[in-house]
Parts: sequence; C-alpha cells; structure tokens
Amino acid sequence: MTKHVAVVPGDLAGREVVPEAVKVLRALGLGYEFEEFEVGAAPLLRGEPAMSEETFRQIAGADAILFGAIGDPRVPDVGYAAQVLLRMRFELDLYANLRPARLYDDRLSPLRDPERRSVDLLIVRENTEGLYVGAGGRFRRGTEHEVAIQEDVNTYRGVTRILECGFRHARRRLCMVDKSNAVHHAGGLWQERWAELRARHPEIETRHLYVDAAALELVRDPTQFEVIVTGNLFGDILSDLTAALIGGMGLAPSANLNFETGQGLFEPVHGSAPTIAGKGIVNPLGAILSAGMMVAHLGEGEAAKRIEEAVAAAIRAGECTRDLGGSLSTAEAGDAVARRLAD
Ligand code: IPM
Ligand code: MN
Repeated sequence: MTKHVAVVPGDLAGREVVPEAVKVLRALGLGYEFEEFEVGAAPLLRGEPAMSEETFRQIAGADAILFGAIGDPRVPDVGYAAQVLLRMRFELDLYANLRPARLYDDRLSPLRDPERRSVDLLIVRENTEGLYVGAGGRFRRGTEHEVAIQEDVNTYRGVTRILECGFRHARRRLCMVDKSNAVHHAGGLWQERWAELRARHPEIETRHLYVDAAALELVRDPTQFEVIVTGNLFGDILSDLTAALIGGMGLAPSANLNFETGQGLFEPVHGSAPTIAGKGIVNPLGAILSAGMMVAHLGEGEAAKRIEEAVAAAIRAGECTRDLGGSLSTAEAGDAVARRLAD
C-alpha cells in the first residue's frame, strides 16, 4: 500500500528544510504520497488557528508526519510554538522521542582529544509527561505575591514504557538519567521502575547518572554512551548538548513515536531559526536525517541507511552549508544528498 506522508513545514527555517527532505525522499523513488499542510504563523496571522481541527485530523490519519519547525517572531505569544508541537506529541501520544547523535566527520567535533570524538549515541527522551504537561498555574498574578507552580508529572505507565523503549534500543549499554537525589518524588518512581526493569535485562550493561553528571560526562567523553533514557526536560536539554558534539543543531534529527499505534512525527531538533531563516543558508541535513528515520520507521531499512550514507558522504566532501564548513545554499545542500541517491 502506498504510504501517505503528511508534510508540515511550519514556520521559517522549517519551510526551507522540509522541501529538501521531500526532495531526497523523491530521489529514492519510494513511491510515497505527500500531502502538505499549512500550520503555524501564516494561518494564525490571518486570524485562523495555528493548526485547524481539520488539519489536525488529517495529519493524525497519515502514515507518518514530516515536520519542520514552529516559531515566528511576529507571533508575540512565546507559548505558541509549544502549543502546536506539544499538542501533536501529546494527543497522538508520541511518547518516545528518539534523538540520535552520530559524528559523520571528525572535523565537526568540538572536542580536542581525537580518541573521544566518535559520538554514536541515542537519547531516548520521554515525550508526553514531566514538566511539559502544563500542570500548575500562576496565582496572584501581577502582584509581588505571585506564585508560579509547574508540576512534574510522572506516571507508572509513562516511566515504564520509556524505560522499556530504552532497553529495546540498547544493544549493549543503557544509561538512565534523572535527578533523583534532589527531585525525589518523581525520581523515586524512576528509580523503582528502573530497578525492576534492569533486573529483567541482565544482558544489558546498565548505569545511572544524575543529569548534572551526565552533562559533564557527555562533554568529557561521549564515546562511553550508547543509549541514554531520560525524562522530557532532561532529554530536551541533553539533546542540544549532543547536537553540539556532532556539528550543531542543523544536523540533529529526531523521531517522535508511539510503538503501539505505529504513529510517528519526524522533525529536525532545531527550531525555526528566525535569525538566519530566509537567506537560503539553513542546514537541511537535520530534516533530511529525520526523513531517514521516517523511512526506517515505515519499514525501509535499506533506504534509510542509504540516506544516512549520502548525508555522511556529502558532509565529508564539504558539500554542505556554512555551519558545517561548506559554502552551499540550503537547496544545493539538499541536491548534494539527492544526487548521491539518484544513481
Ligand atoms: C524540541 C524543542 C521543543 C521542546 C520546544 C519548541 C517546545 O525545544 O523539540 O527540543 O522543548 O520539546
Ligand atoms: Mn529542544
């Protein structure tokens, strides 16, 4: 059956990188059907919802969602980006956010010691709970007595399924990251679920780190990690850190998945990049690698591998955008990958 892909570029940089990802998918000749949806600042500034109910319904019905980025300085509400993206993550229950970090070329590493550069790890980020659920409130607003409460929501089921996801993705080593020494209600639940699941997976070498130590170890020697499983906020923060270890935000891909429904949303980790968007210089490789993760999820492992190899080859040839040391435009960088797949 033909796979139906919902293409949702969103705002600014998203509108520049998603077409390159689609270009690469077309070059592979997988026969996907693409349908584009308008979501973000454009409809909002016309007085319509950023994502209409009808659009949401249709996107939710696709076999996969290829997403760009949300955020536009013309929209003053800072929560607007989160509303659209988090709504999709939450309502589709895309509980696993997979964020791989792989170094494709030595020159992209910021680390001095060549022995410690070769990052090849995966962050498994919980994607539907934690501080992101929006529980809490602001009271006595506008006064000097204001109180702001943001609840950290952790459920037995939510913690269990993300830890299980971590174990499924680990071949040899899994590291669980929390802050249970200070945040002990939530941390206690993570620790208990972790203890039980570790006992069930004696074949996996397990390790626990507090998030502060994990940040340090990731910079000191990222080669020690294979899979890191952690909560929503820590996963968000650490995945920006790991992006910096492989060449920056432009290169980091992600998959938001629900393994039970099979639904998935694939997006570069970077945002809409208002300061550099619109000049034709944003890096499309994070979006292209995300499309690769989508292809893998849709059952085409070989094609997914070819995308990643083409990206690596383009980077090594210096056929990439300026952030990676090249001189190509966004579209040319997309061509450099597509060309390697066409033959
Ligand atoms: C990300 C982003 C989002 C997040 C923002 C835009 C809500 O930073 O995907 O990492 O925090 O999850
Ligand atoms: Mn982030």
